[in-house]
Amino acid sequence: MPTPSRIAAARALHGVFGAGHRVGDRWDAGLSSEDAGLAQALLGLCLRHWGRLQAYVKPRLKDQSRSLPLGSQVALAMGLAQLAWMDGVAAHAAVNEAVELAADPVLGFPPHKGLVNALLRRGAENRQLLRADLEALPASLDRTPFVNAVLQAALEPHHVPGKAQVEALWAKLQTPPRPAFRVLRGEAPPELEADPQLDGCWSLRAGEAFPIPWLQSGAGMVQDRSSQALMTFRWEQNPFRILDACAAPGGKTTSLGSRFPNSFITAVEREPRRADRLRKNLEDRCVKAAVVIAEVTDFLASTTGTFDLIILDAPCSGSGTLQKHPELPWIAGNIDLERLSELQRDLLRAAIPKLDPGGLLIYAVCSWLPEEGDHHRAWVRSAHTELQPALVWPAGYGVESGATSFFRPHPLTWDGEGFQAFAWTKR
Ligand SMILES: C[S@@+](CC[C@H](N)C(=O)[O-])C[C@H]1O[C@@H](n2cnc3c(N)ncnc32)[C@H](O)[C@@H]1O
Repeated sequence: MPTPSRIAAARALHGVFGAGHRVGDRWDAGLSSEDAGLAQALLGLCLRHWGRLQAYVKPRLKDQSRSLPLGSQVALAMGLAQLAWMDGVAAHAAVNEAVELAADPVLGFPPHKGLVNALLRRGAENRQLLRADLEALPASLDRTPFVNAVLQAALEPHHVPGKAQVEALWAKLQTPPRPAFRVLRGEAPPELEADPQLDGCWSLRAGEAFPIPWLQSGAGMVQDRSSQALMTFRWEQNPFRILDACAAPGGKTTSLGSRFPNSFITAVEREPRRADRLRKNLEDRCVKAAVVIAEVTDFLASTTGTFDLIILDAPCSGSGTLQKHPELPWIAGNIDLERLSELQRDLLRAAIPKLDPGGLLIYAVCSWLPEEGDHHRAWVRSAHTELQPALVWPAGYGVESGATSFFRPHPLTWDGEGFQAFAWTKR
């Protein structure tokens, strides 16, 4: 039987390529930290190089006109990736584990056990050559049209994207991101080191494992650098009522609770299971907030209250999270951008009337696509003249000098997820 790490990686690959699912946050939750490290590395390599791994196999098949069943594709990709790029994995382990995976009736395709064995043994004879052969295949095989559109969209607002910049950004997004953390109580654990550029942000020291007990205690949380930077918006007022309109799992609610401990925070989430997680996270972190399970448009239509501060961290394509989610290029066909953009517009339409005069509205998406950001900004400018841009972020996050009302750090120089956020205040 394959090891738990290989089984977990194979299951995740089936989820992506068989069902078109994203890799969930907790896909490796049942693994020991050593197994999780191996599984994460392996899954990342297979997803980042899926196109090339499949293209390597095709000409080596007897019948090239027939496509392989997913179980064989997964077993071969995992075996090849270990042989080519994971020097710490012995060749016999990479081959045997992949053959066992192929023999699994659910995750593999047993009639192809022999084929998987033969192809991988051939690759194992010269691992350096295998790696060179894979890397000689066109990199564009690992890049779908969605990726190309995202790269253009990420660079366009900063300058006209040239080929070199597009390639540099793609290379950056192909490396696994360094996780970032926020300390909420007490000292940072020894596994973390302070981020030299972003106050209050911490990152994992090279070679260290995730500080799981510390995270579980609620003394700290994982939060991407971009979310942390976004939440440092400068606004001197003391809001009485705050709305976090799309709140789970509660990263931004936590930031709000730490920054405005005396405010009354309402955190709305429409999905009950995510709302449970939100509630638990807030309890563990000692954040006071009223959690409401509802469609936020319904909640806003039924509430008589208004808010001094509204954070609308809207559902989106997640195109800015390509580095953390290398499965995105392969499932992007399931993303309905038009529907998402309409939904985001509806959320803005519902939120704007509930902002108090003098209040601050921040709309954010972890996406670079203009349909999810800039287009809404243009709409607000023409349809809601009662809102005016609020200059709440410093230079570096959107403009080169002076303060800015939009948060869109340069994707080549900023280390963090791709975000677009806009801030307005009401006259
Ligand atoms: C981008 S995530 C929010 C992340 C969160 N703000 C944080 O920082 O941890 C969007 C969340 O909004 C929820 N959501 C999407 N549409 C919603 C709606 N119409 N009403 C309420 N919640 C919604 C999703 O289930 C998801 O949990």
